Parts: sequence; C-alpha cells; structure tokens
Amino acid sequence: MSLTALAMREDFPIFLRTVAEGKKLVYLDNGATSQKPLCVIESESNFYKLHNAAVHRGAHQLAQEATEAYESARAIVADFLTAPGGADEIIFTKSATESLNLLAYTMGNAPSGNRFALSVGDRIVVSEMEHHANLIPWQQLCARTGAELVWFGLTPEGRLDLSSIDDLISTRTKIVAITHQSNVLGTINPLDAIVDRAHKVGAVVVLDACQSVPHMAIDVTALDVDFLVFSGHKALGPTGIGILWGRMHLLDELPPFLFGGSMIENVTMTSATWAAVPAKFEAGVPNMAQAVGLGTALQYLSGIGMDNVHHHEIALTSYLLNELSRVPDIRIVGPTNTQSRGGTISFTIKDIHPHDVGQYLDSQGVVVRTGHHCAWPLARSLKAPASTRASLYIYNDEKDCDALVDAILGAQKYFGRL
Ligand SMILES: Cc1ncc(COP(=O)(O)O)c(C=O)c1O
Repeated sequence: MSLTALAMREDFPIFLRTVAEGKKLVYLDNGATSQKPLCVIESESNFYKLHNAAVHRGAHQLAQEATEAYESARAIVADFLTAPGGADEIIFTKSATESLNLLAYTMGNAPSGNRFALSVGDRIVVSEMEHHANLIPWQQLCARTGAELVWFGLTPEGRLDLSSIDDLISTRTKIVAITHQSNVLGTINPLDAIVDRAHKVGAVVVLDACQSVPHMAIDVTALDVDFLVFSGHKALGPTGIGILWGRMHLLDELPPFLFGGSMIENVTMTSATWAAVPAKFEAGVPNMAQAVGLGTALQYLSGIGMDNVHHHEIALTSYLLNELSRVPDIRIVGPTNTQSRGGTISFTIKDIHPHDVGQYLDSQGVVVRTGHHCAWPLARSLKAPASTRASLYIYNDEKDCDALVDAILGAQKYFGRL
C-alpha cells in the first residue's frame, strides 16, 4: 500500500496552484517554513475582519474580544506543550530567533546574585549541529560576560558525540542550549542524558524545538527541560509569531527584555516596576492576529494527532531514504536509518553543486532548500559546505518522494553525470 498524505491537500490553498509552467507543486521545504491550511489563513484574517483591537488595553467590546482570542491562543499553546504551569508560562515573541535572543540577552542583564548572572569561568554548552539562531546569541552572551562557549561534537553518522558529556557539562556549566532535532541532519538528540547531567550540576537546559514541535507530541514536563522555543510558521501557523516556554520560577527570575507599554506594574518619572510573567516579556502591542492564527494551526495539528504526524513522517522518511539509496553518487548527510531521526534529509550529489541540483529540481516543480541551512559550523564539520535538503510534512506522500528521486536522476542526466 502506498503512503498517502496525512492532511488533505485540499485544506491548503497553495496546492491549488501549479509551478514551473504547469507542474504539480511538490513542496519539500518544510524545514524552512510550512504551508498554511485555509482555517489558519481565515482565522488570521477574521481577527482583522471581526475583532481587531489592541489587546489588554481598551475597555470596549472589541478589545475584550481581541484579548479573549489572544489569551485563548496562549492556552492552546500551553496545552500543546503540556506546560505544567499553564498559559502563564507561554510568552509570545515574533519568532524562535527572538525567543532565543530574549533568553540570551536577558541572562546577560542578570544582576549579580541572580541565578542567571554569568562571569568568567562559567560555561555555556551548545552543539556543533546548532542553527545559527541557537548559537550566535550564546556566542554574544559569552562575549558580554566572559563565560566560555563549549560544544558537543558529532559522530561520523551525524549524531551527538556524548563521550565527553561529563567534561563538557561540569559544575562550571550554567546553560545547556541544544537543538531537539537538527534542521540539516534530521537527527533527534538524546535529551535524557543531557538533561540529567545538566540538572545534576545545576545548569538550565534551553531546548530549540523548532524542528520537533511541528512534527511530534511534545510534553515539556516529560522532557524535563527548563526553556523551550519554537516558531509558529514551521507548524502551519503564520509568520511573525514565536513561542518561549519556561518554568515559571525561572521566568520570574529573568530580567525583562524590551521595555514599554503592557510590561509594567507601576511607573513614575524616574522608575518602573514590572508586571508578572508573561506580560513582563510582552512589551508593546503584540502580534495578535498571528498568535490567534497559531492557536488555530495547533488545533488543526491536534485534530490530526501528533503521534499520527510523527508516524506518518517516519514511514515517509524510511521510504525516501530507501529510494534515495538507489541514486548513484549520492551522499546522505546524516543518519541513513529512521532510528532517532525525523523527516529532514540533506544530501550531496557528486560533481553537481547543490544550487544546481536545487535549480533543476525547481524546474520540475520540486521545492527544496540548498546551502548551509543556517548551520555553517555544521556544514564545515561535515565537509559539505552546501547541501540539498528535502524536508517532509503532513501533506507529503510517496508520490512526492518519487518526484524528488526522479528529479535528482533527471538532474544527473541533465548535467551529464549519468
Ligand atoms: C533548528 C532551528 N532553530 C531555529 C530556527 C530559527 O527559526 P526562525 O527563523 O523562525 O526564528 C530554525 C529555522 O530554520 C531552525 O530550523
């Protein structure tokens, strides 16, 4: 039996169009951003059509409706992540990048005596497979505080090398910031060992869940991490909305990020005090329609069931890895089996530049990503400065995988390599 799509393509208006002069759109760039179902597009536009007003401000009916919709979205996110402290632990930001910058920047502002205050000799641990968004903010925090950045290297298969975990995560370590699933390799990281060790030495764990929240059931209590971030737009939601979840007592202890309206408790001409979390981190009029759209996206995903999403992607990944193994001169960059890996498959083709591969695939209607995928140190360590990446989601099926493989073989013919 062939693997059919889990979500109805009819739910996604973009699949009504064609590309490359009338060809079916085979969208395999879900690691970059996902397509949006009509219910999400309508929920965002209905907010503007019917309820638009600044949340948490006016006493009028529209402001109350807008606030209700915005706060309901927060509750949906909390449920989706199984946040133990409920909706108050959910901070709306504009992206995962902003969530990570919020953490690193505010930690850098922590006064001495605060648990997040860093100084020379302290350590921040990352890995060599981080997206720039979960690397550069920590580099900058080290530069500001004198803390040292250290990282997990990789095994030849593209998994974290945990052999030096006890040396890396030591009593000097304050923060471990790690990706849940690599946006290049597809590797799902073994969090248990890392979280256990981090907590043993009193460090907090920041999880970059951009590539996992859209693809599997997430329970922050079971994962036992301290902070988690993801972007709405990779999970069927709008752009301009990101999430930071944190344990309430830690969010309480962090200094504020941006200053201005809505994040205050009391203001005089010379001083101010801060509102409680989450308002403390949401200065200014937030991205309301986008938050509401994200709530609808997560409800849509919950309707399908996140375990079903995960199983669908594992089955499709297994199929695609198998089909790709028939392609001559291909190198899969990352694990070649489905054990602890998701549906992101990067590869190189001997003697054809990834950009040329990507362009040829595009001419066949197959949309992929090429380049270093915002993980330049990883690309260097893999000795694959650029690669082509196919990333799967709920609306993809076996035919999409076949179209990719046919187009790669077509590229090899076109460039005279077959
Ligand atoms: C693993 C990972 N972390 C962080 C990000 C940054 O997400 P955004 O650009 O939505 O802020 C991405 C985006 O590709 C990602 O894949």
